[in-house]
Amino acid sequence: MPIERLGSLSWRCALVALGLLLAGAAGAAQPALLVGTAWYPEQWPQSRWPKDLALMQAAHLDVVRVGEFAWSTMEPREGEYDFAWLDRAIAAAARHHIYVVIGTPTAAPPAWLTSKYPDTLRVAEDGTRAEHGNRQQFSFSSPRYRELARQLVTRLAVRYGHNPDVIGWQIDNELGPPSFDAETRRQFHAWLQRKYGNIASLNRHWTTAYWSQTYDSFDEVPMHSQDENPGLLLDFRHFVTDTWTSYVANQVTALRAYADPRQFITTNTTYWGNQFDQHILSRELDMAAWDEYVPDGHFVWLDQAVQQDLVRGYKNRDFWVMETQPAFVNWWPVNRALPPYAMRELAWQAVGHGANAVLYWQWRSALNGQEQYHGTLLGADGTPVPAYGVVREIAAQMARAAAAIAGTSPRSAVAMLQSYDSRWAIDFQRQQADFRVVKEFDAFYAPLERYAQSVDVISPDTPLTGYRLVVAPALNVLTAAEARHLADYVRAGGHLVLGPRSGMKDAYDALWPQRQPGPLTSLLGGRVEQYYALDSPVPLAGVLGSGQASIWAEALSVRDPAAKVLMRYGQSGQSSDGNGWLDGKPAVISRAVGKGSITYIGAWLDPALMQNVMDDSLRAAHVTPLVAGVSANVEVCERVGAGKRVWILINHGDSTHTIRLPSPAAPLLAGDDTARTASVTLAPHSIHVLEAPLQ
Ligand code: GAL
Repeated sequence: MPIERLGSLSWRCALVALGLLLAGAAGAAQPALLVGTAWYPEQWPQSRWPKDLALMQAAHLDVVRVGEFAWSTMEPREGEYDFAWLDRAIAAAARHHIYVVIGTPTAAPPAWLTSKYPDTLRVAEDGTRAEHGNRQQFSFSSPRYRELARQLVTRLAVRYGHNPDVIGWQIDNELGPPSFDAETRRQFHAWLQRKYGNIASLNRHWTTAYWSQTYDSFDEVPMHSQDENPGLLLDFRHFVTDTWTSYVANQVTALRAYADPRQFITTNTTYWGNQFDQHILSRELDMAAWDEYVPDGHFVWLDQAVQQDLVRGYKNRDFWVMETQPAFVNWWPVNRALPPYAMRELAWQAVGHGANAVLYWQWRSALNGQEQYHGTLLGADGTPVPAYGVVREIAAQMARAAAAIAGTSPRSAVAMLQSYDSRWAIDFQRQQADFRVVKEFDAFYAPLERYAQSVDVISPDTPLTGYRLVVAPALNVLTAAEARHLADYVRAGGHLVLGPRSGMKDAYDALWPQRQPGPLTSLLGGRVEQYYALDSPVPLAGVLGSGQASIWAEALSVRDPAAKVLMRYGQSGQSSDGNGWLDGKPAVISRAVGKGSITYIGAWLDPALMQNVMDDSLRAAHVTPLVAGVSANVEVCERVGAGKRVWILINHGDSTHTIRLPSPAAPLLAGDDTARTASVTLAPHSIHVLEAPLQ
C-alpha cells in the first residue's frame, strides 16, 4: 500500500476503534496485573490456535506477545505484506479474553532482505560480516535497514494501532551488538564532529599527545570497543547509545503516527545489559520492560531484586517482565530448572518491585530452530508440561490480587546511583580483575535492601528530593554537573555515601586533576591519597566495627577538622596483614554538612562490615524498615497508591516466620480477602499478599 494512503486509512480505523476502545479482549476490562506468554502463531497451523488459546485461558493467562521474529511471515517478499494471519491470531486471542502485545519483527530480518541488501548486515569488530540463519544480524546504523523497518512498522501501526485487543508494542528484541561497518564508522566520525566541533577539542579531552594519538581530522579516528584510549572508548559507548536510541526512535515515530496513545511502546532488555545507556534510550519509551532469567536455576532473591529495581529506574516507574523462564533455559552450561517454589517467588518478587506483568518465554517450542531445549509451558506434543501447572497457579493468584495492585507502585527512601559511564570506565581498566562493578553494586545493595526493604536504582542525574539516603557505590565518572547535583542534595540535608573508586574521572573519562572524589573533595573535607589493588584481604576497624577489605582499598586523608575518620586499616595491631601502604590510614571518612552528610568508603568491605556501615548510614538518615523485625530470608515489598498499601511478603527460606504488620491488612490470596490481620505466619517459601488502607 502506498504510504500516502495511510493517513486516510488511519482515520477510518480511528472511527471503528472508537466503538471498540472500551471493549478489548472481547469485552473484558484490562487487569492491572497481567500474566502471559510469548506465542508464535506463525510457527503452527491455524487449526491448532484455538487449542493453544483455550489452554492459555485455562491457565488464567491475560496476554500474549506475538510477532517479534515474524518478519518473513509478515512480508514474505519485498513490498508484499501478509497480515491476515495476524488479524486472525489477534481475533482468536480476544475470543479467549487474551490481550496482545505486538513485537516489531526487526530483530530477525528475512533472507530476501539480507540477500538483496547485504549492506544492512552487521559487521563484528574483527571485520566479519554476519550471515543469515541467526538473529540480530542487521546493522543498527544502516539507513536502508531503518527505512525497511519503518515501512513495515508503519503498516503494523496503521493496521493495529486502534485495535482494542492490542495493548502495546515491543520494539525489536533485546537490542544489543553494535556494528563496525563502514557506514557506522562514518556516522561515528560525524557524531564526534558534532560533539567536539573541532579536532583540537577532541585531542585535548582525550589527551592524544599520549602515544602520538594526535588526530588531524575526525576521519582518522579509529573505532574500537576495547584496548583503546579511554576517552575514545567512552565516546564510542555514547555513540552506540545514541545510535540505538535513534534506531528505536525511528520505530516509535512510525508507531506514534498511527497508534492510540493507550497502546504503550516499550522494548525488552537483557539483565544488567550494558551495551548502551538504558536511561537515555528509555526516554523514547512509555515503559521499561526486561527479560528476567536465572540461567543456572539457583534463585538468589537479592540478586534478582536489584535487577527489578534497576529496570524500574530506567523510567522511574512501573515496568513489565516481558520474558521469564518456565523452569529452565537452554543457553547456560547446566540449564538447571528453577524449583516450582522459586518460580512463584520470582514472579511475585517482580510484582513487589513494580512489575505489572509477567510473561513466560515461551508457550511451546518450535519443532525445529535453535531453542528446542528451552523451558516451555507446553511440550512438543501440545499438552502441558509441569511448569504449566505452576504458571496456572501463579496466574490465578495474580488475578485475585490485580484489583488491589491497581494504582500502586513501590516507594523508596533510599536511592542507589547506577552510572553506565562509571561502569564502562572501570570495565575498560579494571586494575583488579575481580573488581566487577555489578558485584560491588550488589554488595552495597544487599544490606540496604535488607534493612530498608525498598531501594530505587536511578541514574546520577535523577532529581534526589525526597530521598533520605543516596548511595553511589563506584561513581568513577563524576561529571561537574553531577557533582553539583550531589552537593546540592547534601547541602539541602541529604545523606550521600560514595563507594571506592568514586570521583576519579570527568565526563571525557579523563582523570580529574585533583584526587578523588574530584569535584566533591572540598565538600567531603578529605580525599583519596592513593588507591591499591589487593590480592589478599586487609584488616580494618573503627567505630563501625571491624572486618576486612578485599579487592580494592584506598588510603584516605582528612583535610577539614569537621571530617571524621570512621574506619582505619590495620588498626588492631595487625599491620603485617596489610599491604604496607595502608597501615593505620583512614578507610572510611564522613563529614556533616548542615543536616546532611557526605561519607566516603574507600574499600570493598566484607559483607558483615558492609552491613554495619550501611546500617549506620541508614540510621543517620532516619530510614526505617517498611515492616520491622523481619528475618533475613523474608522479603518485604510494598506498593502504595490510590489510598492503599499492598504488602507482598515472600519467605525465601526453609523455616517458618511470623511477622507483625504496621497496620491490619486483608489477605488477598488466602481465599478470604475481608478478614483483616496484623500478624502473618509465613511457612517456608510461602507468599502472602495483603492490602491495607493508607493511613
Ligand atoms: C531471550 C530472547 C528470547 C529467547 C530467550 C531464551 O533473550 O529475547 O527470544 O531467545 O532469550 O531464554
